[in-house]
Amino acid sequence: MKYDPQSLQSYWMPFTSNRDFKSEPRIIERAEGVYCWDQNGHKIIDGSSGLFCIAAGHSRPEIADAVHAQLKELSYSAPFQLGHPLSFELAARIAALAPPGIDRVFFTNSGSESVDTAMKIAYAYHYARGEGQRQRFVSRERAYHGVNLGGVALSGMVKNRQAFGIGLPGVCHMRHTWLAENRFTRGQPEHGAELADDLERFAATYGGDTIAACFIEPVAGSTGCLVPPKGYLERVREICDRHGILLVFDEVICGFGRVGKAFGAQSFGVKPDIMTMAKAITNAAQPMGAVAVDEAVHQAILNAAPGKSIELFHGYTFGGHPGACAAGLATLDIYRKENLFERGEQMSGHFLDTMFQLQDLPAVTDVRGYGMMAGFDIVPGDVPGARGLEVQKKLFAAGLHIKMTGDSGIVAPPLISEREHIDEIGRILREVLS
Ligand SMILES: Cc1ncc(COP(=O)(O)O)c(C=O)c1O
Repeated sequence: MKYDPQSLQSYWMPFTSNRDFKSEPRIIERAEGVYCWDQNGHKIIDGSSGLFCIAAGHSRPEIADAVHAQLKELSYSAPFQLGHPLSFELAARIAALAPPGIDRVFFTNSGSESVDTAMKIAYAYHYARGEGQRQRFVSRERAYHGVNLGGVALSGMVKNRQAFGIGLPGVCHMRHTWLAENRFTRGQPEHGAELADDLERFAATYGGDTIAACFIEPVAGSTGCLVPPKGYLERVREICDRHGILLVFDEVICGFGRVGKAFGAQSFGVKPDIMTMAKAITNAAQPMGAVAVDEAVHQAILNAAPGKSIELFHGYTFGGHPGACAAGLATLDIYRKENLFERGEQMSGHFLDTMFQLQDLPAVTDVRGYGMMAGFDIVPGDVPGARGLEVQKKLFAAGLHIKMTGDSGIVAPPLISEREHIDEIGRILREVLS
């Protein structure tokens, strides 16, 4: 074995079965375009864009060069009461991609930080308007909103919460939108818009004026690509408006072309008040996240602060880091020059055809998909997730990486993928799942 197991012991790996992994490591040493190579020189096609983040493919030299040049010019400047040019430029570029009105951008270093930042902005907005009693948040079962304490409280995945205490009080979870009658639906399912009424029930039970914000992933990604039923997001928006609840779209996966348009908000034609993002913002070449906020929310917070005082007591040492901003700008240039959002939208037909061909396999109990993201479920074994891990390892051995969450697979190829790459992913999935 190239890596002596002892040399792997110090690193405590995240969301990993450490003991199992270290006895059978899968170490990626190099990657380019849609392919990665492991420690044995074994070539693997990346069917999940890493973790849904390398939309423009791995190891893009344009991004590496931009980061290198920036770090030689200015590798860091304090982000509190000082600025550097690239953070302003990148914020304006992100605002231009977002729906009109969502044009104020706060930088973080990850999706988890974006979610917790959005929660704090929601609190601050209501406090600024004299509605500090709005302390509750609503999210959904099967939601994933990262791993910081706020985001974990919002998340609706038992394993991510169970070991970590009671979390934030006052979070209510709406039902998830997976329904048996929608199995094998391509695109938005017909049934389930009424599940949005759970939010109305919480408003009736706890008081709409106690709820600060409702967090929704336009397409719930990490738990298996749950596409919103037709009319569902519109109904959530209406209920939020009725009760003065802020609507936050967690676009950490959906953002930057994954579901057709720049953001899920545009793909589904529903405008939130706040959007969280990360992952493909820098094509994952540098850690970065952002929260884009409606001008009215921003203005309310600014107006409430006296004189020249700080308006939001929140920020990260590395927020808007020059290297990350350089990566972000180079990434957005690639998206624009290569029309990657449009390209993903065009490739979606072939991609979803390929994924839905798996539905005849006895091991596959559901397939779902929208844009360049699809999920499938397999017949579980005795222990939830054990078969999922087994499938993931067998796929890897056969030359394909995908993200498995429990017994669901999530496939989200880079937006640069050609038809032959999609075919290769489909072929390996069929071989292994058969
Ligand atoms: C919707 C959503 N929100 C938040 C996060 C957390 O992002 P990060 O892992 O960058 O902290 C993720 C990560 O997958 C996500 O899918």
